[in-house]
Amino acid sequence: MKKIGVLTGGGDCPGLNAVIRAVVKSASAKYNCEVIGIEDGFDGLVLPNKTRNLTPWDIRGILPLGGTVLGTSNRANPFKYRVIVNDKTEVKDVSKEVIKNFQSLGLDALVVIGGDGSLNIAHELFKMGCPVVGVPKTIDNDILATDVTFGFNTAVQTASEALDRLHTTAESHHRVMVVEVMGRYVGWIALETGIGGGADAILIPEIPFDIAKVCKKIIDRKKSGNRASIVVVSEGAKPIGGEVSVLCASEAGGSAERLGGIGNKVGADIGKYTDMEVRVTVLGHLQRGGSPCAFDRILSTRFGVAAVDMISNKRFGEMVCLKGQRIESVSLNDVAKGQKRVPTEEGLVKTAESIGISFGR
Ligand code: F6P
Repeated sequence: MKKIGVLTGGGDCPGLNAVIRAVVKSASAKYNCEVIGIEDGFDGLVLPNKTRNLTPWDIRGILPLGGTVLGTSNRANPFKYRVIVNDKTEVKDVSKEVIKNFQSLGLDALVVIGGDGSLNIAHELFKMGCPVVGVPKTIDNDILATDVTFGFNTAVQTASEALDRLHTTAESHHRVMVVEVMGRYVGWIALETGIGGGADAILIPEIPFDIAKVCKKIIDRKKSGNRASIVVVSEGAKPIGGEVSVLCASEAGGSAERLGGIGNKVGADIGKYTDMEVRVTVLGHLQRGGSPCAFDRILSTRFGVAAVDMISNKRFGEMVCLKGQRIESVSLNDVAKGQKRVPTEEGLVKTAESIGISFGR
């Protein structure tokens, strides 16, 4: 193991730089191994001049930095790569070129830090003979086979702090505050933000909601003297029998379907059925930005170190993961099997219901 590559793919999230730092530091100190940073996700293995040496000197000071110093892309899938031919966009499979470029860089292995999309690409490249290891990142916490992804706890912290602020203005005006949070098709961010930020109702994709039940909760609170309520809505939540709210459809070789809009729909319905004043806040990319919390810095560091150890042990085609307190690894094949959804009949959902939080069911 003389030279390894590292890239960050998909949407950014707090903690990416902490992983890059750990990869560079441990590769250098433990294995005397060189690290090449690949820029803008898989784009860096398709387009020329998008790689650079990363020495321990280069990564000084990046532990608390949000985003990724390498840049990222969620439109750079080598198996469905968008190219412009005669002014027209075409989608091509450039995976063989990626393997060739990986080889001409003289790399012994590639660390792919990414969410489900990038890890699936890593898995496909592995099947073509590329020695990859994966590191699970995403604020959504939806990756199978790891208890938690880095970035998630920071996002929950940011969103919970937003709820604290909304409580004070909601109380002053006796309003209902609806807060739409990210999370794609799973409700982890909404669930933990709602509990951490003291919400009265939490709507998640795993539990299609009945708006009448949400409104009853708010009206009951009003009757008992609580004239303000907070409702956290996951962007992927939907009413019973209804559809997920989509802002933009997915594009071939481009970004995935973009969710959003359910917060405003829920807000409008609550206003109509409770006759209370409602305001809607969409937290959006605020949840992805900023410095990682200490938990995420530590998890990212553990993941980065473990990824380099896995390369040294030739554990290719695997992803580092957290199981309880232990860092382990799991086959990328198992990761590709689906999404980690919130269990609806145990754990945190039950805890929340025990303290009176409504899920609209
Ligand atoms: O997967 C992370 C995430 O932030 C989701 O929660 C959200 O739906 C999506 O990415 C937003 O993506 P983009 O940055 O492309 O708008």
